[in-house]
Amino acid sequence: MKVFVTGGLGYIGSHTVVSLIEAGHDVVIADALYNSSESVLQRLEKLTGKSIPFYRIDITDHDSLSGIFDDHSIDAVIHFAAYKAVGESQVKPLMYYRNNLFGMITLLEVMKEKGVHRLVFSSSATVYGDLTESPIPETAPLKAANVYGKTKLMCEDIIRDYAATDSEASFAILRYFNPVGAHESGIIGELPNGIPNNLMPYITQVANGIRDHLTVFGNDYDTPDGTGVRDYIHVVDLADGHTAVLKKLEKENGVFTYNLGCGRGYSVLEVINAFERQNGIEIRYEIGPRRSGDIATCFSDPSKAERELGWKAERNIDDMCRDSWRWQQYASEHNL
Ligand code: NAD
Ligand code: WQD
Repeated sequence: MKVFVTGGLGYIGSHTVVSLIEAGHDVVIADALYNSSESVLQRLEKLTGKSIPFYRIDITDHDSLSGIFDDHSIDAVIHFAAYKAVGESQVKPLMYYRNNLFGMITLLEVMKEKGVHRLVFSSSATVYGDLTESPIPETAPLKAANVYGKTKLMCEDIIRDYAATDSEASFAILRYFNPVGAHESGIIGELPNGIPNNLMPYITQVANGIRDHLTVFGNDYDTPDGTGVRDYIHVVDLADGHTAVLKKLEKENGVFTYNLGCGRGYSVLEVINAFERQNGIEIRYEIGPRRSGDIATCFSDPSKAERELGWKAERNIDDMCRDSWRWQQYASEHNL
């Protein structure tokens, strides 16, 4: 298939481009480079040995987006392009609503005009809000606790409402848990903007001396060691989940929703220990107060994806720590 990937130079998008090309698909990328750089394209072409058509456009621009569909006969769209920082979304709500909602709506409008009916959407475990019971199945109640989460929930609603008007729609909503790690080559990965919000990039920056120490946000949660428990998933497994779901969309109409996670949780201290063990580097940390909005435990029930897509995460926490560190070293050595 020819797959159009919005946000394809970002963290998850770039890994998905590799997975798609390895599976024999042709890929076209659009990215405005708000949280990525064109050097990712060069590294993707080096990794895959393919020349990949790339458009530097903002997908909220209807005419630019439409032009890409004129240039290429698109069979399916994977929609990653969005802003994703929870804290920033609370202080810049209009920016988040504009980008994440207008991007979604413009994309569906253009797909409708051009007669494209297959879509994969990047949703998030954040749509389960502050649910206190894990494992979380796809049928759990939905409730967003912050602006970013609300944009994901609203996009899910837009997708479901639009699909109800298109009998040929084959849409997938993928709810990612905590993506970490990087491609085994170590030449693509997540490049946080400024001080990382997320645990793994913070750990790798402490490991190579960019940050002095990690602050563990609370050790008084109701978890085995008191620190927060999350379902970390290797980004290459996550990427392969997109390739797997496309096979279903090729054959079936409807709206399908899947959790993409490993189905088990690790605490912050377990992640630190795994990183130290795997890479032989000590991670300095201090225990600090809880971070506002955090919950104790969140992990997926990923069994629906395994049953219906034949997909399950293969890589473990050691792989995630090894590959995150390999990527951090590459990024530092190349001043990325
Ligand atoms: P990312 O920021 O690395 O990638 C997103 C890409 O989209 C960036 O390259 C950015 O430049 C581009 N972009 C943003 N707005 C755009 C626009 N209007 N037009 C064109 N390009 C635009 O983020 P990521 O971690 O790869 O996340 C990809 C998707 O997955 C996002 O929708 C995010 O909300 C979702 N998600 C991410 C996580 C996570 O922890 N990383 C978890 C759950 C869901
Ligand atoms: C993991 C654990 C922290 C940093 C976020 C978004 C979510 C999704 C994925 C997009 C928690 C602890 C963290 C630090 C710490 N993104 N921690 N010190 O909060 O589960 O999910 O990213 O959709 O929407 O909310 O991930 O990596 O920030 O935190 O102790 O410096 O690590 O308290 O227990 P989170 P995270």
